[in-house]
Amino acid sequence: MEKIIIEGGNPLYGTVPISGAKNAALPLIAATLLAPGSFTLHNVPDLRDTRTMLKVLETLGCSWSRKDNTVTIDSTNITGAEAPYDLVKTMRASVLVLGPLIARQGFARVSLPGGCAIGARPINYHLKGFEQLGVKTTLSEGYVEARSPGKLVGNVVYFDNPSVTGTENLLMTAVLAQGTTVIKNAAREPEIGNLVDMLTIMGAQIEGKNTDRLTVQGVESLSPAEVTIIPDRIEAGTFLIAVAATGGKVTLTHCNPSHLPSLIEKLRLAGVQIESDASTITITCPVSRNVENGMVRSVDIRTMPYPGFPTDLQAQIMALMVFGDGVSIIHETIFENRFMHVAELQRMGAEIRIDGSTAIVNGGKKQELCGAKVMATDLRASASLVIAGLAAKGTSEISRIYHLERGYEDMVTKLKELGAHIKKVHE
Ligand code: EPZ
Repeated sequence: MEKIIIEGGNPLYGTVPISGAKNAALPLIAATLLAPGSFTLHNVPDLRDTRTMLKVLETLGCSWSRKDNTVTIDSTNITGAEAPYDLVKTMRASVLVLGPLIARQGFARVSLPGGCAIGARPINYHLKGFEQLGVKTTLSEGYVEARSPGKLVGNVVYFDNPSVTGTENLLMTAVLAQGTTVIKNAAREPEIGNLVDMLTIMGAQIEGKNTDRLTVQGVESLSPAEVTIIPDRIEAGTFLIAVAATGGKVTLTHCNPSHLPSLIEKLRLAGVQIESDASTITITCPVSRNVENGMVRSVDIRTMPYPGFPTDLQAQIMALMVFGDGVSIIHETIFENRFMHVAELQRMGAEIRIDGSTAIVNGGKKQELCGAKVMATDLRASASLVIAGLAAKGTSEISRIYHLERGYEDMVTKLKELGAHIKKVHE
């Protein structure tokens, strides 16, 4: 096992390139199952989760190769239909192979993902949507078996919550169904727009990109494609929040500022300076303000589906609000257990109180965090602890960093190049 050691209190300066989006790469890798042939995906981040998804495709008969951040996938011969438990339990997004397998070959057997640290993570919306397209789903021995008795038929599908992977799974099924499918209350995350673009290049007919109503005209077949993964808005947001916490001046390159409307607004309200153009964001925070006095303005946060404040940045902004000049109320509306980072931040001296799905973060006086030995519990909680360690006084040790490596490409290297005193060591 490895851990991260951070000497806190050093401001960050320089330029950092943002990698491709994990949450776009996963559905787009799954979408290669929809058509036989060779696909080329550019800007694919090399992460634990993308490696797991490629392993799932291998078990289904695909072959793939990687050169730098370009991945080539050949899905000509699908020899299997099962995503096994030992892979799905490590990454619940493996359920994204359900939709394309049903559309391609009419059958799929995927282990139910089970819950994770942040919540129960059910897939009932996915299964209900498949049923509405004519798929029969049964649950047995922890697996969901999905079978289409005949041709899939388009229908109206409505999501109670705008599910991100639910929208992606149904899109990847509807594109090969007969007739028209309308997905209502669809999620609008930019990663879904990236999938819509890929499916369109493959020959799909989809209207309503980036809206909550997607209309799909089913087609007979699709063709392979060459696509580029969009920048990772959550990685970009994580770095912006880290600089706001430590002070300094950093330019993010290869990113898309338009994918971070709510975070940029909140950081400006917190008193940091942000400039951006089409593919870069520069954040400037006076060191004196953020390290000695430990003060940014406290802001309230309510996580919402896109374009609201992303739940995937909630843990990170909480670490920043520890240095707020007042009280910050953070309301987590998406997942039922996404405050696992709070106990670890409290061990560093943070004053945070939880009341149901709300966290009250007391910044106020010259709040300081003291470095400590802390434990990562999930992907974004790990990022929160890294940010806290960078801004704390003294040394922090973060264990179980395999969580972090699921979703951040070379984070330690990137932070080191910005002047952070950070290293990865074997426990
Ligand atoms: C995606 O998860 C992301 N993962 C998550 O990112 C992200 O936090 C989440 O969307 C919300 O933005 C990927 O894209 C691979 P949902 P997903 O379905 O699709 C409930 C990260 O850190 N729900 O949009 O699983 C669900 O419980 C990860 O990168 C049902 O009840 O999330 C939740 O409360 C963590 N039934 C809400 O809807 C369902 O069938 C939104 O979940 C599906 C979802």
